Amino acid sequence: IKRIGVMTAGGDCPGLNAVIRAVTKTAIQKYNLEVVGIKHGYRGLYLGGDEFIPLDLHNVSGIISRGGTILYSSNKDNLFDYTYVDAHGQEQHGDVSDVGVENLKKAGIDALIVIGGDGTLTSGRDFARKGVKVIGVPKTIDNDLASTDTTFGFDTAVATATESIDRLRTTAESHSRIIVVEVMGRYAGFIAIASALAGGCDAALIPEIPYDINKVAEAIKKNRARGKNFAIVVVAEGAKPLGGEVTVSKVVADSPDPIRLGGIGEVVSEQLERLAGLESRATILGHVQRGGSPTANDRILSTRYGSYAVELLMQGKFGNMVTLNGSHLSYDSLENVIGKNKAVEESSYWIQAARAINMCLGD
Ligand code: F6P
Repeated sequence: IKRIGVMTAGGDCPGLNAVIRAVTKTAIQKYNLEVVGIKHGYRGLYLGGDEFIPLDLHNVSGIISRGGTILYSSNKDNLFDYTYVDAHGQEQHGDVSDVGVENLKKAGIDALIVIGGDGTLTSGRDFARKGVKVIGVPKTIDNDLASTDTTFGFDTAVATATESIDRLRTTAESHSRIIVVEVMGRYAGFIAIASALAGGCDAALIPEIPYDINKVAEAIKKNRARGKNFAIVVVAEGAKPLGGEVTVSKVVADSPDPIRLGGIGEVVSEQLERLAGLESRATILGHVQRGGSPTANDRILSTRYGSYAVELLMQGKFGNMVTLNGSHLSYDSLENVIGKNKAVEESSYWIQAARAINMCLGD
């Protein structure tokens, strides 16, 4: 192996630059490899040309603290099922993965490090099946990838959500209001439960535990009876009420994917105002959770993941994703990892801690 490629695809996530830096530094300094950055994820792999840029010690210097990705990203681009405009300006649709493989060959890239979440790694797996030497690095603020304890970006997202909750607390208290904070996480409640614990919230509603809104209102009323005149409720964007889907507000009713529009916080807020008898406001934190500088923990984890990805590559362990088990770095096959999103378990230390302090989980 002489030259390797690295790319970031899917939603951005604090720590991506730290991984790119660690891959580059390890590859160049320890193994004397050349490193090529592929811009805009799989779209760049398809386009080739200027999308492929050399990475060296100089252009990765000082990026460890930067959010986003110096290689940019593109979301949901799947070269095995791709929409593109052909030479005649006509929109076409189909499998263009061969173009990606050809572009790697043309650039003399012997192996590829793909930094991404489930969708990105699924494509990584598909390229591995076509014979490309792929190593995956697990990225998502949602922390829902299988086989690894933690993904980088999660710690930063929780820190950002917690800081926001601290700010919302002072305004909630001043106005004797309920504030419902909707956080990201897609179909998992890791960000919600962790930030609710760290933010000292009254309730956390997560997809893994269907909630009864009356129980949440009761918990708030109980706290009022002992003199607490405000409440902070964290709602994961994927949370669901007992017995089914939330009746989304009219803003999101026609959306094919209401979660992405962030509707549930508003609904829960309206319901709690009525049932708990306190004025209520909803705050949707949204993409603020993905932006900005990674925490120290995420910088360290990203550095470890990036270096270890190069080690796996040099050992010929292709088709695998880097994993973290306890404090130990290891790997698991992409075949095994993808399509099995992890959920917050009842036995997890988060749920145990929440139950121990009687935080309302809506059940
Ligand atoms: O997977 C990361 C994530 O931020 C989710 O928490 C969220 O549901 C989704 O991506 C938002 O995606 P987009 O960037 O397409 O709005």
